[in-house]
Amino acid sequence: MKIHNSKSSLESTLLPFKKNKNSIGFVPTMGALHKGHLSLVKKALKENDCVVVSVFINPTQFDNPADLEKYPRTLENDLILLNSISEKIIVFSPVASELYSQNISSKSYVFSGIEQEMEGKHRAGHFDGVGTVLNLLFKAVTPSKAYFGEKDFQQLLIVKELVKIERLPVNIIGCPIVREKNGLAMSSRNKRLSKEEFEKAALIYGVLMKVKEKFHNLSFENLNKLVEDEFKKSDFFTLEYFEIANSSTLKTDVVKLKNIKYRAFIACFIGGVRLIDNMALN
Ligand code: PAF
Repeated sequence: MKIHNSKSSLESTLLPFKKNKNSIGFVPTMGALHKGHLSLVKKALKENDCVVVSVFINPTQFDNPADLEKYPRTLENDLILLNSISEKIIVFSPVASELYSQNISSKSYVFSGIEQEMEGKHRAGHFDGVGTVLNLLFKAVTPSKAYFGEKDFQQLLIVKELVKIERLPVNIIGCPIVREKNGLAMSSRNKRLSKEEFEKAALIYGVLMKVKEKFHNLSFENLNKLVEDEFKKSDFFTLEYFEIANSSTLKTDVVKLKNIKYRAFIACFIGGVRLIDNMALN
């Protein structure tokens, strides 16, 4: 498996593929790989002639320095996992000054207003950082298709906007959430949960399933109340937000509108760990 730390060495490895008009699949990650990432990599391998996986913890998308510091770093294990799937995977793992060409700062983006909802409200500058790093990564990797998990559903919509804004010729593919046996959405942050917290975190999926079951019978107001009550019952969690939103605009409605696809979104803290999840409701 080839591991590149510089844009120029990645470029030379990709050159023959580009000359032959081969398709390049791309899975951007911040490492601490889990089965969710691996499902994206496997799909990319099936659908492309070559696959690049980036492992880069992007400093500009963290609004909280402690969160950046605590983000799990497991490069050695990540490489073993990727190699066990395919030795052909090309890994791109630059340092920040290399990827950003010394200027480690974010561009400012307007993603049709999607950036102002949920994660955008609670994590200042987060989507500017995500947009900036993905623009740099897409330019370095020049993928035909790039793969993103629906766990970060808002990020997926933002990336679709980004490629329009930056006119990048890449097809953005959203992939279903991969869950633990207890329903917890797979996330690199789960590595920071104690055994007890991990078990308790099943509540998030449980609550989303309850909302889905009751979606047709209860009003938005009552569904919101149901979720708040569930979280109040537990000492372990702090609910940051729960929203039922239009799955294309991420705006909320006061009453359910016909022909609109809704999705429930949740962000909460368990101990010091922030977890997010979402689910399609209709
Ligand atoms: O979802 C992530 O892991 C990150 O936001 C991404 C897309 C790799 C950009 O840093």
